Amino acid sequence: MALHCPVNFDAANLRRQIESMYTRVVEQPDGEFHFHRGERYAIDLLGYSAAELEKVPELSKSCFAGVGNPLLIDILLPGDVVLDHACGAGMDLLLAARKVGPSGYAIGVDMTPAMRTRAVMASQLAGLSHRVDIRDGVYEELPVEDASVDVVISNGVLNLAPDKSRVFREIARVLKPGGRLLLADVVVQRELRNEVRQNPDLWAACVGGALQEAEFFELARSAGFTHARISHRFNCFRGTSAERKVSRDLFLHSLNFFARKGAVC
Ligand SMILES: C[S@@+](CC[C@H](N)C(=O)[O-])C[C@H]1O[C@@H](n2cnc3c(N)ncnc32)[C@H](O)[C@@H]1O
Repeated sequence: MALHCPVNFDAANLRRQIESMYTRVVEQPDGEFHFHRGERYAIDLLGYSAAELEKVPELSKSCFAGVGNPLLIDILLPGDVVLDHACGAGMDLLLAARKVGPSGYAIGVDMTPAMRTRAVMASQLAGLSHRVDIRDGVYEELPVEDASVDVVISNGVLNLAPDKSRVFREIARVLKPGGRLLLADVVVQRELRNEVRQNPDLWAACVGGALQEAEFFELARSAGFTHARISHRFNCFRGTSAERKVSRDLFLHSLNFFARKGAVC
């Protein structure tokens, strides 16, 4: 893996910066950011179903800051246990909780308290709190048992991790053998310039830590995943200041990525 924590960043500092950025998303969802948020964006640029989103409370949708649409990648089955390993305000989590039905379960982990509060309130408003469990934690060290989850969903968060191999190993640890990873993340066509990698705002905006396509496959393979494939691509930064700052020739966009945990990881 070529990508390390950038020079001049220490991981604790980076985490504080990320937490402060996403607390601001909760407090000022209509504020100025390098990235899109909310329901209209999810429908227009990421292909979310307007009908399904009608059943998700606004206080969750307004803080949605994903970059793709993991639930388009594969179907969730009734009874599945699903984990969103950085669930934010819970939009994907609540959509998943409906899909797995009364015999299924949806666990959301996030490190930002303001996001978790939104996710808890939204699950209560949606009448889904009996099958949704929001936990405080980080995806580098998930508060989830080994081999207990059928599906991990991930939307716009792998790029935020300084140690992406560790995040993949944690996903592999909590998935059952044969379990599925439905991941959406930002992708760049060329290695980013150092000044982009070192800009904490662009890192926290899901740009500075973005991978190249081949690196997703390499991370998945190293963590013992098989059947890796890209299923969709999105122009998730269309019209944002991130697109202008990072320049279009990097072809900054996002993808939906599937992988399956092998029998032995
Ligand atoms: C870009 S938002 C995406 C949230 C959600 N997946 C969505 O689609 O709206 C980033 C989220 O990742 C969370 N996050 C960032 N780093 C994390 C980590 N190391 N462990 C857990 N959550 C993290 C932030 O708190 C924030 O809620």
